[in-house]
Amino acid sequence: MATSATTETKPAPPPVEKIKVKVDGREVEVPKTSPDPLTGKPVPTTMIQACEIARKDVPHYCYHPKLPVAGNCRMCLVEFGMPALGPDRKPVLNPDGTPKVAKSPRPAIACATPVSPGMEIYTSTPGVKQMREGVLESLLINHPLDCPICDQAGECKLQEYSVDYGQSASRFVEAKVHKPKAVDLGPRIVLDAERCILCTRCVRFTKHIAGDDALGIVNRGSYSTIATFPGAAFDNNYTLNTVDICPVGALTSKDFRFQMRVWFLKETRSVCTSCATGCNILISSREEKIYRYTPRDNDAVNGPWMCDAGRLNYKWIHREDRLQDVLVRGQKSTWTTALTEIADKLKKAPAGSVAIIASARQTNEELWLLSKLKAKFGAISDCYPREGEEDKLLVSGDKNPNTNGARLMGICFTEVGINLSKIASGIERGVIKTLVVFGENIVKRGVNTEALSEKDVISEAIEEHGITADLLGKLETLIVSDILPNETTKLAHYVLPGCAHAEKRGSFTNTKGRVQRFMQAIQPPGDARAEWDFLHDLLYNVTGQDGFLTIEGLFNEMARDIPAFNGLNWAALGDQGVTVMI
Ligand code: SF4
Ligand code: SF4
Ligand code: FES
Repeated sequence: MATSATTETKPAPPPVEKIKVKVDGREVEVPKTSPDPLTGKPVPTTMIQACEIARKDVPHYCYHPKLPVAGNCRMCLVEFGMPALGPDRKPVLNPDGTPKVAKSPRPAIACATPVSPGMEIYTSTPGVKQMREGVLESLLINHPLDCPICDQAGECKLQEYSVDYGQSASRFVEAKVHKPKAVDLGPRIVLDAERCILCTRCVRFTKHIAGDDALGIVNRGSYSTIATFPGAAFDNNYTLNTVDICPVGALTSKDFRFQMRVWFLKETRSVCTSCATGCNILISSREEKIYRYTPRDNDAVNGPWMCDAGRLNYKWIHREDRLQDVLVRGQKSTWTTALTEIADKLKKAPAGSVAIIASARQTNEELWLLSKLKAKFGAISDCYPREGEEDKLLVSGDKNPNTNGARLMGICFTEVGINLSKIASGIERGVIKTLVVFGENIVKRGVNTEALSEKDVISEAIEEHGITADLLGKLETLIVSDILPNETTKLAHYVLPGCAHAEKRGSFTNTKGRVQRFMQAIQPPGDARAEWDFLHDLLYNVTGQDGFLTIEGLFNEMARDIPAFNGLNWAALGDQGVTVMI
């Protein structure tokens, strides 16, 4: 593993020819071609992309920048003009010498019409407004207008555009077509066919992005509806992305529907911890309760998508049996007592008698602080590998979010887990007398996995390395920090209750070396405390090392110390992270 000075390693973009167009009278330069959302190959830039560059909002339903164009909703209709050509095919000029522009008698859909030099796009003429009103009226003909009981209310494009272009009363006096409601499409998705505007975003996503041609449109005219193949469930690891991209309330998540009105939710920028990809997410919470994770756009990591498994892996955070108390030899204690006692013991520990089993689910900052303790005691250290299935879209086979961070801090090595059997044998031989364990249940267990949380089920897959309860019984001191109780916390002399990532701030280094920070969404329960916070106190008690009482200060100190992070600082990570050499 090479570590070197940190810089953003974006390849220089290839030069793209620019053309000039006008959007609502303002001239803008736009690239002649833009990358195709699926292949990345250059395809002509469209009017809607030009309008985005010109910061002119064009209402749309079926267009999605990461999906192939369908051009079926017609909401993006705009008027436009082209340079007029004379009979000799030469530009006709105005008296002042500028090219004369001839307005097209017909509008065009902005999502599928390429721009060309000299084109003028008009997005806010009375004609365009009238077209939007017409399209919206048509879309609402058979719509149930059930916003008060619709989960999409508050983040629905039909609602939003109705405010801009809708009418207060319907001219439609005939009976509406009624389509199936609450259709069970699959294990995580419910369809309300009456709300669907047939934009086909869900169909295109699942076919082209998820690679599972599971959805289609059946029946005709007003009776058209989204469906799966008869008898087949809509069930792949990316189905919940269709809920995100459905512009209306037709597709809803079984997990989130009817749980909370979206306008009550606080959104916090975070990172998924269920695998090493580190998809960027928003944690939606209210009053210290998490209601959902949704993907946060980051083209360097996950684009606008995330997998269902990662999205739904949050319920364990609210488990009632969370560790909330500091325990000293099984008795409730205080942080001050526990950290002072631990520091006293560590200070007396002979060199080579301390081992650290950290977790690659810990943050860069926490692992760096542990590396300082490791250096102080000449301790042997490692993490547990956590491996599972990967796929071709996002999911990594490494189920730890910060394996690269643990490597960069020198806590584990290229082959994660290589020191675990050495630690076991050191305890067996009586050489290792103090073991510090963070976030891992290291004892060989025979437990019922059905009763475990998602977090523990993943732990259960950990390959064992000969560490048993009997072996841990030989230790003089076992110090354990974790979030949930397990066999290892039961055996610990000191239990230090830690935090889920949603309850603290920090950063991870993902599988491609992208260092990404995450923010605190909710408060931890009871006396549980962010690991970096109490590790700082412990390190101070043991070594006197100080100077980073905030996560910003800690990160910046770490960045000066770790060669791969040199030049980075907390603020520079921004919301999208920075790639470092790993
Ligand atoms: Fe579009 Fe939603 Fe209907 Fe799918 S269910 S076609 S995403 S409106
Ligand atoms: Fe989380 Fe990995 Fe799934 Fe992304 S791919 S959402 S990081 S589990
Ligand atoms: Fe252009 Fe739907 S967004 S036709």
